[in-house]
Amino acid sequence: MTDRYAVVGNPVAHSKSPLIHAEFASQTGQDLTYTTLLAPLDGFARSVREFQEAGGKGLNVTVPFKQEAWKLATSLTQRAELAQAVNTLKFDGATILGDNTDGAGLVRDITANLGFSVRGKKILLMGAGGAARGVILPLLEQYPALFAIANRTPDKAHELAQLFLPHGDISSGEYASLAGCHFDLVINATSSSLSGELPPLPAGVFSPGSLAYDMMYGKGLTPFLQFAQANGAAQLADGLGMLVEQAAESFFLWRGVRPETQPVMVLLKPKNG
Ligand code: ATR
Repeated sequence: MTDRYAVVGNPVAHSKSPLIHAEFASQTGQDLTYTTLLAPLDGFARSVREFQEAGGKGLNVTVPFKQEAWKLATSLTQRAELAQAVNTLKFDGATILGDNTDGAGLVRDITANLGFSVRGKKILLMGAGGAARGVILPLLEQYPALFAIANRTPDKAHELAQLFLPHGDISSGEYASLAGCHFDLVINATSSSLSGELPPLPAGVFSPGSLAYDMMYGKGLTPFLQFAQANGAAQLADGLGMLVEQAAESFFLWRGVRPETQPVMVLLKPKNG
């Protein structure tokens, strides 16, 4: 029987996940369908249960349900537990396994696709919301030399640094405290690109040879990437690769097969970009 998967969210119609997973399935010869599932804002758990009862095998979870999915899961991977957010559910009998593949997707895009080795490098993560929190553990596991979190509201950055203390040393503060510091990898995990804004980043933070990574995709050159380009970053990347790689990590969790991501990346790249 054909196995069923979907991405659940609200809104969800715009999601690229069905296209990505259809490509993965055809490439690996897996017999599955992957659709979108629009859940009412007050009906996430019900929608998940109904999908599971109808024979669904797994779900990706997107805005605004990632935290609810974290609460709903009966078993969590360590990275999902720390992220307090789940983007992948796998149904196995009565067990609902919750995972978060966002950070692994980001790391894979940075290392495998962009050829940037994180080990021994100085990382700056901008933002302290859900998106930032979801990628911290996989980044720390790459053994950076230094890891800093900057946030407009510094207390939130301090809280994250405390929380992840058992897994690595993180310095935290407001943007102004970065004056005079230099980083090899600067990641924008704020929602600033969504509103066309630029976090108040000192111009000198980009080391020669540095990579500027915006987790946002589909917005062209964001204000952050433009700023990075003008201030010495050697390499720029948006979050399209992360999107495809996190999908591949979910696919692997569900099917035990690792799809190739490059063909899908080519398919999704804006033609003029
Ligand atoms: P998400 O789930 O996308 O992380 P979130 O949890 O609402 O969304 O967090 C948004 C993050 O973007 C926060 O770190 C926020 O900073 P504050 O905690 O100070 O609010 C950050 N952010 C949003 N707009 C920003 C801007 N224009 N400049 C700097 N940081 C911004």
